[in-house]
Amino acid sequence: MFDTVTPAQKSAAALYAKVSRVIDPLSWQAYAPVIDKINRLKREKNAVILAHNYMTPEIFHCVADFAGDSLQLARQAAETDAKVIVQAGVHFMAETSKVLSPEKTVLIPDTEAGCSLASSITAADVRLLREKYPGVPVVTYVNTAAEVKAESDICCTSSNALAVVESLPSDTVLMIPDKFLARNTAKKTQKKILTWEGSCEVHERFTPEEIRKFRKAWPDAVILAHPECPPEVMAEADFAGSTKAMSDYVRDRQPKRVVMITECSMSDNVSVENPNVEFVRPCNLCPHMKRITLDKILHCLETMTHEVTVDPRVAARAKQAVENMLKVKS
Ligand code: 13P
Ligand code: SF4
Repeated sequence: MFDTVTPAQKSAAALYAKVSRVIDPLSWQAYAPVIDKINRLKREKNAVILAHNYMTPEIFHCVADFAGDSLQLARQAAETDAKVIVQAGVHFMAETSKVLSPEKTVLIPDTEAGCSLASSITAADVRLLREKYPGVPVVTYVNTAAEVKAESDICCTSSNALAVVESLPSDTVLMIPDKFLARNTAKKTQKKILTWEGSCEVHERFTPEEIRKFRKAWPDAVILAHPECPPEVMAEADFAGSTKAMSDYVRDRQPKRVVMITECSMSDNVSVENPNVEFVRPCNLCPHMKRITLDKILHCLETMTHEVTVDPRVAARAKQAVENMLKVKS
């Protein structure tokens, strides 16, 4: 008898070999057929899946065409030749893709995938801030609605916040809406930074006591923290950076043991490519990111829903703010 392993089975086996450290065999049995369908439909529909680093491993490693932090995803959205972008991330990310690629169809698997930072501020709030601080440039974190970006001078991400602030010809800068990213950036610049009362519901929950406990339990561990954490948490960490910067740190330095002070899925995703690093896994889930599942991605491609639209007048102004950011070298 000849062995009748199909090409689809072969590629599923190769994928599972990659993710078997973070996905159990029973879950894989359920995921494998969905992954296969998604990967076929992507080709048929000339679609790409842009996945944020907080996606679960079956999305991040098995269906994403490109995975990264907010800055990388924005760059990728601007560059892709595909006709359709499926944003495996939260709503503001899909809007950013649409703003940068208005001619493309941008789909989000769950329209309720929001963000506590994005919902903390409106366009009207930014107009009021401008009235209160005339002439002060407005730097807006990408974790905001397109309408908020449209009222801004320039955007930033956690990767380039300092470089963006430093690029502005003003001693005072409004940095909205994340008060912690603003305070963490203020520590590294001579400029005066005014901010807003927004915060990330995932990162604001980490405490310095928690970090000290990790340090005590694993004295040899390197502690990496995301700059959406409070400054007192950052002060306890060994390294601060965006999700990409944390991932690069582990890849390049191969610490024996690491603690990532960020969303749960990061450690799973980074551990797949770094089998020799031991991950201590503090886990604060982002409920918004976790709304995106394989089944919803499949549904999205089968039905070509849910399309993300942005009013073209808003999009044009928001695009300017995002493009101003993309021009900054960081
Ligand atoms: P980065 O991936 O850009 O670091 O952002 C983290 C985040 O919270 C996105 O929602
Ligand atoms: Fe928003 Fe925080 Fe979730 Fe990122 S992790 S999407 S900043 S709530």
